[in-house]
Amino acid sequence: MRMKRNDEDPFVFGVRVEGDTFTDRREETERLLMNFRYGINTILISPRRMGKTSLVDRVCSLLQGDVIRIARIDAFGCRSEYDFINAFATAVVRATSSRWEEWMENARVFLSRFVPKISFGQDPMNDFSISLEYNASNTTTEDVLALPERIAEAKGYRIVVCIDEFQQIGDFTDSLTFQKKLRSVWQLQQRVSYCLYGSKKHIMETMFQNHSYPFYRFGDLFYLQKISEDDWVEYICTRFKVTGKAISEQLAREICRLTDRYSSYVQQLAWFVWLKTRDEASEEDLVQAVDRLLDACEPLFIQQTEELSAYQMNFLKAIANGVCSGFTQSSVLSQYHLGTAANITRLKKSLTDKDLITTVSTNRIELSDPILLLWLKKRVFLGY
Ligand SMILES: Nc1ncnc2c1ncn2[C@@H]1O[C@H](COP(=O)(O)OP(=O)(O)O)[C@@H](O)[C@H]1O
Ligand SMILES: [Mg+2]
Repeated sequence: MRMKRNDEDPFVFGVRVEGDTFTDRREETERLLMNFRYGINTILISPRRMGKTSLVDRVCSLLQGDVIRIARIDAFGCRSEYDFINAFATAVVRATSSRWEEWMENARVFLSRFVPKISFGQDPMNDFSISLEYNASNTTTEDVLALPERIAEAKGYRIVVCIDEFQQIGDFTDSLTFQKKLRSVWQLQQRVSYCLYGSKKHIMETMFQNHSYPFYRFGDLFYLQKISEDDWVEYICTRFKVTGKAISEQLAREICRLTDRYSSYVQQLAWFVWLKTRDEASEEDLVQAVDRLLDACEPLFIQQTEELSAYQMNFLKAIANGVCSGFTQSSVLSQYHLGTAANITRLKKSLTDKDLITTVSTNRIELSDPILLLWLKKRVFLGY
């Protein structure tokens, strides 16, 4: 996977996109922008690699120069309350200080209980990182959670705290107590709002839509939708054109269909087609590109499926064959060797927890990843 992009790259995947490679999302950009400006808490949900990080980053860049400061935290690597609180404090101090002296000052004034450890990068005036060490105790956690409000008040601006992969905190020990703590402090803040986003739909939904959970009705919750086929087609055709190649509208549509418009896969498949193409993309280029995409994803897919039980694989096979509901009917149970009807509930739960299947609507289950589906059909369940 390419990690660095340069301006001539026609397609970009595996990293967040910006500038020319960021397409559409006008409505979502506007909605988020308004929420940020007016201090409305936002919850954003979509499958992985659909474009959450790219969207939030874009909105943040549009707000630059505004009287709003933005603190960004990626909770993906946080394994405990301690990790989270450290990342939170660091992000807030970083977002509210432009020079390292100010950093130190903010850390000293607002976080007297912390021992900041500062390390410098190549440019000591601008490039530094801080880690804060503290003795975990309830008061300290709440102090840190109150930090953005205190700084915002003292300095007379507003702060938006963006937390990526927020569902991660659901895995912390005694997570509900921690969530209660977060909510009780955050909801009283006047000058600070939160944008919480994550990829694990079922965990995010439980956290924010179940009334017995602390974050119930915390803010404006929305699902990041797929970019429309027309927008993708225009994007793909233009990117070919500006790099001196061509692709027909029909083939561009085919790319959208094969990837079910999952943002990252659209870009990745378009990139493989582009690589195969000499002047104008052909059907054959697309066929080979799909093969290459499957090769690229195969190691991950093997890892995701190798430890599944026979029942779990059979369940995926049923989905790959187009079954999306009625799994407990005796004909389906026997055709796919799914065991008893009671087994189905367990299978659904375990595969949902592994993020392999998604319940799209009452009684409609799909594979979470369209390319995994394609791989299963083309390379795993072939002989069936
Ligand atoms: N607005 C967009 N326009 C074009 N491609 C996009 C857009 N948003 C996302 N992508 C594609 O999806 C990939 C994953 O985006 P990212 O923002 O990291 O998703 P997420 O945070 O939801 O996992 C990007 O590398 C890019 O290929
Ligand atoms: Mg992301």
